[in-house]
Amino acid sequence: MTEPAAEPIARIFGPEAVGRSIRIRGWLVRARSSGGLLFLVVRDRTGQVQVTARRDVLGESDFDRAEHVQVEGSLEIDGTVAEDRRSPGGRELKAARIHVVQSGDPFPVMADQTEEFRLDQRHLVVRSPEMVATFRVKATLLRALREFLESEEVLEMTPPVLTGNPAEGGAEAFQIDYFGRPGYLSQTAQLYLEALIFPHERVYGLTPSFRAEKSRTPRHLTEYLHLEVELAWCDLAELLDFEERMIVSVAHAVADRRPAELRELGRSPEELRALAAPFARLSYDEAIERLRARGFSIAWGQDLGTAEERALTMEEAQPIFLTRFPKEIKAFYMLETPGNPRTVEAADLLAPEGYGELIGGSCRETDLTRLTERLRATGADLPSYQWYLDLRRYGSVPHAGFGLGVERLVRWITRRDHIRDTTPFPRTPSRHTP
Ligand code: 4AD
Ligand code: MG
Repeated sequence: MTEPAAEPIARIFGPEAVGRSIRIRGWLVRARSSGGLLFLVVRDRTGQVQVTARRDVLGESDFDRAEHVQVEGSLEIDGTVAEDRRSPGGRELKAARIHVVQSGDPFPVMADQTEEFRLDQRHLVVRSPEMVATFRVKATLLRALREFLESEEVLEMTPPVLTGNPAEGGAEAFQIDYFGRPGYLSQTAQLYLEALIFPHERVYGLTPSFRAEKSRTPRHLTEYLHLEVELAWCDLAELLDFEERMIVSVAHAVADRRPAELRELGRSPEELRALAAPFARLSYDEAIERLRARGFSIAWGQDLGTAEERALTMEEAQPIFLTRFPKEIKAFYMLETPGNPRTVEAADLLAPEGYGELIGGSCRETDLTRLTERLRATGADLPSYQWYLDLRRYGSVPHAGFGLGVERLVRWITRRDHIRDTTPFPRTPSRHTP
């Protein structure tokens, strides 16, 4: 006789399940016993169910073993589905047999423990309902991003993470010893994606990026997932249209596919469904004026910090674009605005409600001489960038691209206070374990 296969707990709540025998496998959420009766709430990836077990049905030793299972202990249960109006979902499982897979040690994670303790126990905290909901939203969001990019005929590339040149400012690069030579953990795949537009025109990479910033803020990680897109024959207006379509498309997809998880996290799916193009486009000059009108004393040429970004987005329901920044505060590869050498053809997308920058993008400088000069001015080691400069030698074309911080997007969508709660094992200046 073959063993019955275990089934997902969700089947218990499906049609025609009442009266059926079913085997489930999962982990104990909580238990209580009274006399010869035991109530176990068991979860698997599809849901949770109340299991009732009777001493006279299970037998002395099996009942005793089941009674001593710890929270998060693992179980396999055979039982019959029964109607029960008092249970969540209106059904319960009446156990005929309980096999304790592992009884487990007392689970150390409980409510109201300090944040530091919870970060030390992250490998266990990932089982919490809040983390489960967040990472399901994140998985759906990643899938929706890939679906969108495929629909736009953008091809996925696999750029390297170990590199020989820091691309976004040497000071914030993690340097490593690469067999006796300096190496760096990638801060951006942009330069490699630029090389790949020549054969493919429209490419993206979804890779970790690393920033050695000692910024202890709710939106900085030292390792984050970076979605980067690079498009040949693209100008700033077309780039922003693309970004906007992408954000609306993934927000709608997440709202449609994960409404329960979003609600559990405090984000109403309706808010996301209401997002629609176009997002407001505000030039840096206009932003400065707005900020001054609100009492900020900010000089033209200054970068915008958290407080400024907050002030610009607190009352917004949709993300907004900030465009045409002063050249001095932006990267060497950004194209000067035609007719205005003080600004660059760049745009940041800021999330509403003060969540801050989601995307940084720009048109790229295509002229070899100007690009070389700009790079030299940063004090970079020119020889290690020769391969990149080569891209302006063999059929250089206008192109543009952007980088999206995936955890920044997840943070806004799931309304998390801190970016570390949008990734299972966050890396911050003070922590790279567990
Ligand atoms: O604005 P950034 O630095 O732009 C670039 O790296 C470009 N080379 C990307 C490109 O055009 N291909 O970074 C892009 C995005 C930011 O908008 C932000 O969302 C995210 O990456 N980001 C971070 N996310 C989490 N923690 C950090 N420390 C981040 N730094 C940037
Ligand atoms: Mg940026």
